[in-house]
Formats: sequence, C-alpha cells, structure tokens
Amino acid sequence: MLREVTATRYVEPLHSGGSVPGVVEADDLGTYVVKFTGSAQGRKALVAEVVVGELARALGLRFPELVLVHFDPELAAHEPHQEVRDLLDASPGVNLGMDYLPGARDFTPKAAETFAVDPLEAGRIVWLDALTANVDRTVHSSNLMIWPTLGTVPPRLWLIDHGAALVFHHRWDTSAPDKAYDFRHHALGRYGPDVRAADAELAPRVTPELLRSVLAEVPDAWLADEPGFAGPEELRAAYADYLAARVAASAAWLPTDFPGRAELAAEEARRAARTRAGRPDWLKRVPDLHGKPAAEKDWSAHLE
Ligand SMILES: Nc1ncnc2c1ncn2[C@@H]1O[C@H](COP(=O)(O)OP(=O)(O)OP(=O)(O)O)[C@@H](O)[C@H]1O
Ligand SMILES: [Mg+2]
Repeated sequence: MLREVTATRYVEPLHSGGSVPGVVEADDLGTYVVKFTGSAQGRKALVAEVVVGELARALGLRFPELVLVHFDPELAAHEPHQEVRDLLDASPGVNLGMDYLPGARDFTPKAAETFAVDPLEAGRIVWLDALTANVDRTVHSSNLMIWPTLGTVPPRLWLIDHGAALVFHHRWDTSAPDKAYDFRHHALGRYGPDVRAADAELAPRVTPELLRSVLAEVPDAWLADEPGFAGPEELRAAYADYLAARVAASAAWLPTDFPGRAELAAEEARRAARTRAGRPDWLKRVPDLHGKPAAEKDWSAHLE
C-alpha cells in the first residue's frame, strides 16, 4: 500500500508543471512533489500517475516513491498567487505526493549529449509508454529526470509524471485495446530503444495479479462516480482487463520502426552537410562542432 503522510509545510508551487504541483514537506521529514485533486487535470490524472508509476516500479524501472499526502489548504495561506490558492483550496484531504529528487535535471536532447542512454532501458520505457498509451514523454516534454547529479553515485534515468497516460479512460466505450501508439516524437526515439527485447522481457510479467495489485493502490475516492460503472471495484476491474487485453495484443501496437544507429548517423551527417552548405565560405573552414567543445588538434588549415 502507498504510505500516508501529513503535509507540514507548503514550500512553493512548481510553475513549470501544467498542473502546478507543489513542493511540500511532511511529518515523516520527507519532501514531496504533490499533485492536487483540485487541478484542472482532475482525479483521472492521479489515477494514471498511480497505475503507470507502480507498474513501472514493478517492472524494475526507476520511479520515485509515491505517497498519499493529507493536505490542509491552511498551510498555504501565505501563497501570493490567487490561482494557486484556489487550486489548493479545492484540494483538502488526500492528494498524491512523489518523492522529491533534489538536484535532478530534466532529460533533454542537450542533457543527453553528456548522458549515455542504454538502448535496453530506453526500450523498456518506450514499451511501457506504448502499453499505457502515455502521450506525454516527448522530445519537448520528456518527463524523465537525470538523478543524482552530485556525489559519486552514477546518474540514472528516473520516470516522472504519468498524468497523461491511460488516455483510454477518457473514452471507455470507444477505445480499442490494440490501438497503435504514436511514438514519432518519443523522447527516447533517437537512442535506439530495443522495444522487441522489452516486449519479450516485460509482457509476460504484466499478469492479471500484478494489474490487480497496482489498481488496488488507487484510493476509492479517485475512482468514484465514473459514469457507466457501478463503483470503484468495477472500475478497477475495467482498467485491469483493458491493460491485460492490451498486453496480449502487443504485436498490434509495438513500435518497431525506430531509426537504427546507422540511420541516425546518416541523418546527423545530412544535417551537418545542410548546416555547412548554408554557411559563408570563410565559415565553412571552421569545424562544425554542433555545440561540442573544440577538440581540434591540427590547426594548420587555419594558418594557410
Ligand atoms: N520527483 C521530482 N523531483 C524533482 N523534480 C521534479 C519531480 N517531479 C517533478 N519535478 C519537476 O517539476 C516539473 C513538473 O513536474 P510534472 O511534469 O510532474 O508536472 P505536471 O504538472 O504534470 O507537468 P506537465 O503536465 O506540464 O508535464 C518537472 O518537469 C520537473 O522539472
Ligand atoms: Mg511533466
């Protein structure tokens, strides 16, 4: 079960997040990024956070601990932004906290220049996103963090923010479990994700028992009053059945035609050639480093 903590201090809103999560300290001395029930994204975003996050953890991916946070809006009486206060006033009671990773960096194409992405791990992440129809792990918004960034422990990829996954729960009656996944802008598409290996490894592990145990973590209150369902238990079963059917249909949605390494290298060479072609003559003689530090040893060409 998810641990329960009580918020003791509202530190600040994270304006970079669309749902304006808050950094909150709690009575276990932990610090959490809290997603609020009163946000415009609504309770379904919190359901998706729990289901996909706990599924990721069960499959061995790195994902910060989730906790249920009892929150009293009085804690944020000092918050100067009226719209943030409105959000918090609409969120008394249980909200969702994610362990705050101090010093973590967002994974971006720039950050990836100095961070080696493992194709097997990338494959597992893409596979999970395709299974759970996550539309929010793109080049522009990776929802992946690099952590830790200080000390001697090597930095690793951490998954965050699955609020936009499980898109099918917005259209229960029309969503087919074998629907293809649009992976063209996936944040890890450029790093050779081995999705076939991930499918072979992970699909057998997504059992009905695992799905049931993941759904059991979602509080009843976030599953209540869904039109077409008699109650939280029936809705939990619908999520589990849908995901089980989708795992079984992986051949239909498995994204397989990611560009390979050779293709990516050729594309990079074409891009560099285009850049060179657009340069004035004098600049063509300067090496094209694409933002990398100069490593040129032989300067004779510049001294003619
Ligand atoms: N556990 C965490 N530790 C450290 N920083 C975090 C953590 N979770 C989120 N952040 C930071 O806060 C930002 C916003 O978080 P998140 O993406 O979860 O919010 P959101 O409201 O769902 O955002 P959006 O929908 O705009 O992507 C992240 O991009 C990241 O920089
Ligand atoms: Mg995000």
